[in-house]
Amino acid sequence: MDFCGAHIISVKQFERVDIDRVFQVADGMEPYAHRKRITKVLDGAILGNMFFEPSTRTRVSFGCAFNLLGGHVRETTDVKTSSISKGESLYDTARVISGYSDVIVMRHPKVGSVSEFAKASRVPVINGGDGPNEHPSQALLDLYTIKKELGSNDRAIDGMHIAMVGDLKHGRTVHSLSQLLLVYDKIRFTLISPKELCMPAEIVAELKAAGHEVIETEDMEEGLTDNDTVYLTRIQEERFTNRLEADIYRGRYRMNRAIYTRNCAPNTVIMHPLPRDSRAAANELDNDLNQHPNLAIFRQTDNGVLVRMALFALILDVADRIDQSATDVGWYTESRFE
Ligand code: NCD
Repeated sequence: MDFCGAHIISVKQFERVDIDRVFQVADGMEPYAHRKRITKVLDGAILGNMFFEPSTRTRVSFGCAFNLLGGHVRETTDVKTSSISKGESLYDTARVISGYSDVIVMRHPKVGSVSEFAKASRVPVINGGDGPNEHPSQALLDLYTIKKELGSNDRAIDGMHIAMVGDLKHGRTVHSLSQLLLVYDKIRFTLISPKELCMPAEIVAELKAAGHEVIETEDMEEGLTDNDTVYLTRIQEERFTNRLEADIYRGRYRMNRAIYTRNCAPNTVIMHPLPRDSRAAANELDNDLNQHPNLAIFRQTDNGVLVRMALFALILDVADRIDQSATDVGWYTESRFE
């Protein structure tokens, strides 16, 4: 794919070479993300960060990634204070904001909305999540994390066993991650969910057609055995008609130290896109695993900055110029990265 000026709407845009390119550029971002070096390669550029659904990680890490490349960030975070609440169309918002920005990240509750917005935009648009549909940058950072975690144990993405647990019907992160894995070979997917919240049939069919093995089960403990990675998700309450309906499923699947030790192979990597729902009624990923070396959730969030920096650098065509005019950090900074 030609990254320069491209919209990033779906993981289906990515061939294997494109994923490799993103990961290679992300690797090179480490000194900048870890505050060892400073680059001004995007000096003067403006990111329009438009989030019309709740977000912490995705919004802040896109913003930080842009700042770390020397650019400026403008945020719109609330439907109530934006003109969308006055009935403005996505077309008009896109025409206007793309006059103010050099690249836009957009999150919106409606499936397909970011694609519609991108068609009217005069600058590249990255999908930060369109309802339950897709979340491509999360899938890239998840896969980047999987590659690193498995790589440290001489394991690879091809041939891996991954279990996905929770609300697989509404979870855009699992939709994007599984579809990104279509370009790899012979993966075993164990999809653990209540029947009513299972992975969409089209995605399961695509995985099988790509030669992957898919096991669907409601039984978490059985599904957890013999995996390289277990990817947990939150019940996506905001996609249900009301809270009571979500309550039916909340707390059905819980991962904690005892369950992990009893069922998972010793090197199983534990992942979650976050936020985890830590309220007692849900608690799909218990705090008693916080110190566990295989818990990769905060390595995922750190990796997110690298991957998002790489996407900006590729789209704005500066990936080969990051190091030019870069300087060492001249202020106190203590390493906080593993
Ligand atoms: C996810 C999302 O918004 O889809 N969060 C994220 O971006 N890291 C997952 C979720 O909200 O459960």
